[in-house]
Amino acid sequence: MNDVSGKRVLVTGGSRGLGLALVELLVERGAEVAVVARDGKRLEDLAQRLGVRTLRGDVTDGELARTALREVRPDVLVLNAGASPQMVPLHEQTWESFSEIWNVDVKAGFTWIQEVLRSPLPRGSRVLVTSSGAAVGGSPLSGGYAGAKRMLWWMAQYANGVSAELDLGVHFQALLLRQMIGETDLGRNAASAYALRKGVSLETFLQGFGAPLSPRRYAEHVLTALTDPRLQSAAAVAIQAETGPTPMDVS
Ligand SMILES: NC(=O)c1ccc[n+]([C@@H]2O[C@H](COP(=O)([O-])OP(=O)(O)OC[C@H]3O[C@@H](n4cnc5c(N)ncnc54)[C@H](OP(=O)(O)O)[C@@H]3O)[C@@H](O)[C@H]2O)c1
Repeated sequence: MNDVSGKRVLVTGGSRGLGLALVELLVERGAEVAVVARDGKRLEDLAQRLGVRTLRGDVTDGELARTALREVRPDVLVLNAGASPQMVPLHEQTWESFSEIWNVDVKAGFTWIQEVLRSPLPRGSRVLVTSSGAAVGGSPLSGGYAGAKRMLWWMAQYANGVSAELDLGVHFQALLLRQMIGETDLGRNAASAYALRKGVSLETFLQGFGAPLSPRRYAEHVLTALTDPRLQSAAAVAIQAETGPTPMDVS
């Protein structure tokens, strides 16, 4: 895929944060975009402002996934929606808070990936699965988040295996953002908790990741992962301000 102009792209969680930045960029580049999220008012505003199609619902709902994929038939599916983890250390988590990211992000990944494989998207379709740098480095204040994001990374790899076995021609890629972006609700919530624990300001904590990355720049890197021939066949792509998007192996 050289560019996204005229391509149908479905972004889950495209109403705020990183997903919204990606939606804005895709619209600018001429893609036909559809967005899934829960907050209806936000979706209405988005549809008016950008002319995107919106589907309201919970990303873990299998019926929503089926309907959305059947109606939109995306060339590119971006599984971006994710819950905000409760930011406390292990001994202060409940099982419910610890497992929330599994029950939202991993369940959504499982549901949508399975649907893509069972009623396959057209050959050449791409699926981006949002993992996290936490899948490599851990994230001690966010319960099961790091393990859940690692599972999503593995699931992208498993899905490529199924796609090859069934000769579907659909390629899955995990995205690992390797620094926190404090401009989104989720990123600010997580980074503030770490900053508080370390006794530093939010700004100082975020500076620890090196050069800052804006949601817009993140979106540009995701677009590069989709269109740069050097990244198109990577099973996972790491994203960081200082290096941009780079291919990564599961290991
Ligand atoms: N920000 C970071 O530093 C960072 C770092 C690494 C990885 N990530 C990952 O990147 C992704 C986006 O993060 P973000 O910072 O942009 O988060 P965010 O600002 O909290 O936005 C989350 C988006 O997902 C939607 N969403 C959440 N739960 C949903 C559900 N159950 N069903 C449907 N939609 C749902 C939200 O809309 P509604 O609430 O209206 O549904 C919103 O559009 C997440 O998967 C996150 O884990 C983020």
